[in-house]
Amino acid sequence: MITQRTVERILDTAQIEDIVSDFVTLRKRGANLLGLCPFHTEKTPSFTVSPSKNLFKCFGCGRGGDSVKFLREHEGFSYPEALRYLAAKYQIEIEETQEQRKDDPEEQLKDQLFVLNQYTRDFFAQQLFESEDGRQLGLSYFKERGFREAILKKFDLGFAPIGGTTLTNQAVQDGFRPDILQKAGLSTSQHRDFFRERVMFTIHGLSGKPVAFAGRLLGKTVKGPKYINSPETPIYHKSNVLYGLYFARQSIRKEDNCYLVEGYTDVLSLVQGGIENVVASSGTALTPEQIRLIKRFTSNLTILYDGDAAGINAAMRGLDLVLEQDMNVKVVLLPDGSDPDSYLGELGPEAFQTFLKENSRDFILFKTSQLLQASKDDPVARTEVIKEVVRSIARVPDPIKRGEYTKVCAQVLQVDESMLVAETNRMVSADMAKDRKDKARQELRENREPDQQVTGSPSIPEAPRRLPTQEMDLVRVMITGGDKLIQVGEETTTVANYLLSNLEEEVIQEFNSPLLRAVMEMASAQLRSDAPLTPQFFLQSDREDIRDLAIGFLSPDYQYSDNWEERYQIVLHTQRMPDDNFARDAQLALQRFQLHRLDQMCSVNAQRIKEAYDTGDEPLYLHYLKFQQELQALRNSIADQDLNTVILK
Ligand code: GTP
Ligand code: MN
Repeated sequence: MITQRTVERILDTAQIEDIVSDFVTLRKRGANLLGLCPFHTEKTPSFTVSPSKNLFKCFGCGRGGDSVKFLREHEGFSYPEALRYLAAKYQIEIEETQEQRKDDPEEQLKDQLFVLNQYTRDFFAQQLFESEDGRQLGLSYFKERGFREAILKKFDLGFAPIGGTTLTNQAVQDGFRPDILQKAGLSTSQHRDFFRERVMFTIHGLSGKPVAFAGRLLGKTVKGPKYINSPETPIYHKSNVLYGLYFARQSIRKEDNCYLVEGYTDVLSLVQGGIENVVASSGTALTPEQIRLIKRFTSNLTILYDGDAAGINAAMRGLDLVLEQDMNVKVVLLPDGSDPDSYLGELGPEAFQTFLKENSRDFILFKTSQLLQASKDDPVARTEVIKEVVRSIARVPDPIKRGEYTKVCAQVLQVDESMLVAETNRMVSADMAKDRKDKARQELRENREPDQQVTGSPSIPEAPRRLPTQEMDLVRVMITGGDKLIQVGEETTTVANYLLSNLEEEVIQEFNSPLLRAVMEMASAQLRSDAPLTPQFFLQSDREDIRDLAIGFLSPDYQYSDNWEERYQIVLHTQRMPDDNFARDAQLALQRFQLHRLDQMCSVNAQRIKEAYDTGDEPLYLHYLKFQQELQALRNSIADQDLNTVILK
C-alpha cells in the first residue's frame, strides 16, 4: 500500500492542467481551460479544466473530478496505478506501508508472470514475422484471412513454433525459472511447450499488459481443439477479462457504445474495418465482472449474434444480468451461418457499418418478438412468453424505462398493459426481497472492510446506491464548507462544528446510508483531534467512494450533474450548490434533516398509538399519545426556526 503521506504529496503536487493536457488539447478561456471532451464525441468544446480548483468537468457528459479520476477514466487505471503514474511524472518517491509489494510472495509471483508474458509475447511475434515456419505457416494464414500487418502488430499476434520445446528452452536460457513457466501455463510439467504449431493471440489486461494467450489451430487441420487458452493464473481470471477491451476503451467511450462479439478474429476484423469499439467474450456467456468492466466506459451494449437459432436462445438467457446492471442492450442478428468476421468480409467495412446501424434492435423487444414467433398459436407457450418477458423487464432498474418497456411489450404481445404492469411489479418486489436477503447474508459472511484496493487490478465501481436526500445534503455541506467560519448567535464557529454539535452521536449512527454515515464519523473524529476539515481531507480519503462523493460535490459547475444524479438515483431538490452562503446552506440542511427525522419518528409512533389502541392498552396508548404531542411540538419549533439566526461572516 502506498502511504497516506505519499498520496497526499502526489495529490498536492499534481496539477490537473498538466495531466489533462497530455491527452487533450486545451485552450485558455478566462480562468479556466477548455477543450474537446475525450469522453464523448462533441464539436464544440465543453470540457473544462479549472486550475484553481484542480478539477476537470465536462458540461456535455457530466464527467468530472481530479487528476486521479481523469487518469482512471481516461486510461482505465486502477487507483494505485494512477497514483504511480502521477508519482513518476512528478518524480515523487513512493513510500509503501508494511506489506511492501516487493516482499509479498503473491505480488512477486505476479510481477514474474508479467515479465515472462511480455517476453513470451515478443517471442511469439518474432516467430511469426522472422522465423521460416512462422512466416510460411502463420503469417500466410493470417494474410490469407485478410489480416494486415498493422493489425497483427497492434494486437500482438504471434506464432508458436512446431518444435515442442523452443519457447521453454529459450526462456530458461534467458533466465526464466521452469516453475514460473509452468505457473504461467506456457510449459508442461515435462518441460515442453504448451502452445505448439498454432497462431497466437495475446490477451491484454485493462492496462495493456499481456495476461494470457490463446492459440488457434492452423487452418482446418483437425488436431485437437480449435483454440486452447492459458489456464487461470494469479494474473489471469478469465471471467474478469474481455478480449480487445484495452484497445477499444477510448473508442467505446467516444461512441458511447460497445459491440460484443464472440471470437478473437471477429474483434480483429471489425477493428481492421474501422469499428474499434468492439470486444469479445471469447465464446462464453458474459460474466457480471465483464459487464462491470464495460460499464466503466459506456452503458450501451450492442451484441452481434451469429444467426443460428440455438445460439440466440442460449445467449438471450444470460442477458438479464446485463439489464440488471442498468445497461441498454441492443442486438444485431447476422444472417444464418455468418459470423461478424465473415459477414464483414462479404459486405466490406462501409456496408457492414450501415448494416449494424440499421439492424440493431432493442434487446427486450427483440426477445419478445423472437419468443412470440416461436410460440405462435400455442396458448400455454404464450403464457410462458409473457412470464419470460416480464422477467427481463423486471430486471431493468430504472422505473421509467421499465414503464416504457411494459407499454411497448404489451402492444407486441397484445395483452392488457395494466396486467403487464402488475406482473412486472410483482416480480420487481420479489426480486427486491431476494436481493435484501442475499445482501444480508453476504454481509454476514464477509463482515469485511469496504472497498479494499487491490494493487494492479482495476477497481470496479459499485452498483448505484440510493442515498437519502436529507443525509446527503448534510454531508454535502460538511464536505464543501466544513471549514468555513460562520456566526451563530454571538459565537463564531465552523460549519462542521455547528452541524456536529447539533447532531448527536446516536443520530449519526442512525444514518441510512453507510457511506454518508462514514463521512460524518470521519468528520467528527477529525474535529475531535482538532485537525482542519478542508475539502482536501475528503478528496484524499483512502476510501474511493468517499473520494468520489467529494469530487461530485466539488465539481466546478456547482451543480449536481446529470450523470451524478443518475449514479446515486436521487431526486434533487436543490439544483444549485450554493457555495456563497455556507451559513444558510448549513442551517437549511440541518433543518431539513431534523424535520425529516422527526417526521419518521412521528409516523413510527403513530403506528404504536394505533396498536396500543387496538389492543386496548390504555396507559400505553396515553403514553405514546403524549410522546406524539412532544414530537410535534419539537417539529413545529424547528420548522418555525428563523433561518437568519446564522449569519455569514
Ligand atoms: P475463426 O474460426 O478463426 O474465425 O475463430 P472464431 O473466433 O470465429 O471461432 P468461433 O466462432 O468458432 O468461436 C468463438 C470463440 O470461442 C473463439 O474466439 C474462442 O474464444 C472460443 N472457442 C472456439 N473454439 C474453442 C475451443 O475449441 N476451445 C476453447 N477453449 N475455446 C474455443
Ligand atoms: Mn470466425
